[in-house]
Amino acid sequence: MKTVNRLLVVIIISTLFIKCNNGSENKNTTTSKAGITKQDWGEFDGKQVYLFTLQNNNGTTVTISNYGGTVTSFVTPDKNGKKSSIIIGFDSLHSYLQHPPYFGALIGRYGNRIGDAKFTLDGTTYKLAANDGKNHLHGGLKGFDKVVWDATIPNDSIPSLTLKYLSKDGEEGYPGNLQVTVQYTLTDEDGLQIEYSAITDKATPVNLTNHSYFNLSGDVSNTILNEKLMIDADNYTPVDSTLIPTGEIKSVKGTPFDFTSPKLIGRDIDSVKGGYDHNWVLNKKDTSLQKVAELSDSISGRSLEVYTTQPGLQFYTGNFLDGTFINRDGKPITKHAALCLETQHFPDSPNKPNFPSTILKPGEVYHAVTVYKVKLN
Ligand code: GLA
Repeated sequence: MKTVNRLLVVIIISTLFIKCNNGSENKNTTTSKAGITKQDWGEFDGKQVYLFTLQNNNGTTVTISNYGGTVTSFVTPDKNGKKSSIIIGFDSLHSYLQHPPYFGALIGRYGNRIGDAKFTLDGTTYKLAANDGKNHLHGGLKGFDKVVWDATIPNDSIPSLTLKYLSKDGEEGYPGNLQVTVQYTLTDEDGLQIEYSAITDKATPVNLTNHSYFNLSGDVSNTILNEKLMIDADNYTPVDSTLIPTGEIKSVKGTPFDFTSPKLIGRDIDSVKGGYDHNWVLNKKDTSLQKVAELSDSISGRSLEVYTTQPGLQFYTGNFLDGTFINRDGKPITKHAALCLETQHFPDSPNKPNFPSTILKPGEVYHAVTVYKVKLN
């Protein structure tokens, strides 16, 4: 009898909890849906910022904010069952407002650099914000990483989050109103799937990506130089001193850029001035979703597989990280404390006619998918 009573009380309390929290737009409320919680995280630009937690059937979680569409953590167990985040980041919005270098953020309208912050399209030259010396980087001064996205939870049965943002005609110098949708889904195979789509009313370059920094050991005091990487790419795009591609597509064979077989990241890094921060030309020949890279770490026993529909991958070894930012565990994020695997079109494509086109025209739909899938070795 006692057990039945207790059960009834639990059911009544749970029902009340769910009812109270379905008013998801009220301040300080938490919405509980299948595998998803939502919490108030502050305000920016006069808009409410939330932190969503997606959880799958394995207990793996991903937290995402609608500020910058930022993935703040991706928590999985290591080989000993100890859980930690393989993505570096912070627990407060305040820390993200200090402008860390794109930690976990959605990047747009154009991921990576556009040389001299300009391009010419259909006879018109567009001047973009120059925010990396004379070049344009990651969408400009206030790119998609620094805006508040509209967030909705699309489906009760899958841990998934839809973010939408309207980038207005002229924003950061780009032509056309661009309506962007990004859907994050945490699969039961521990894959964080990111699906990007966009439409425009004027022709414009578009190159969307996510700038998560990974450290598979879950501890930034281990550098990523001891992690192993494979990139399925026979070629890469060499850059000039300001990291703008020269236009050449060069073979990786016999160079430090050869990751065609799994290789310790630290093995050849000293022969690359500044560290790796380059675009690899993926071997895949079409826009189907294919595995293009795999990262592995012996300390934690974790591996990360990267699948994408995109033609390029920016492998960046956190060369500019200098300890200014402190990870959620209180440790400074120093050089090579984490790395990025940014799936993308090639940098400076709007000025490089020999690179695959990044121009989206009215009536067309931009569509790209990337999956970061964690497993234990
Ligand atoms: C990208 C770029 C790097 C750097 C980082 C952010 O990965 O390629 O050069 O700008 O973003 O610090």
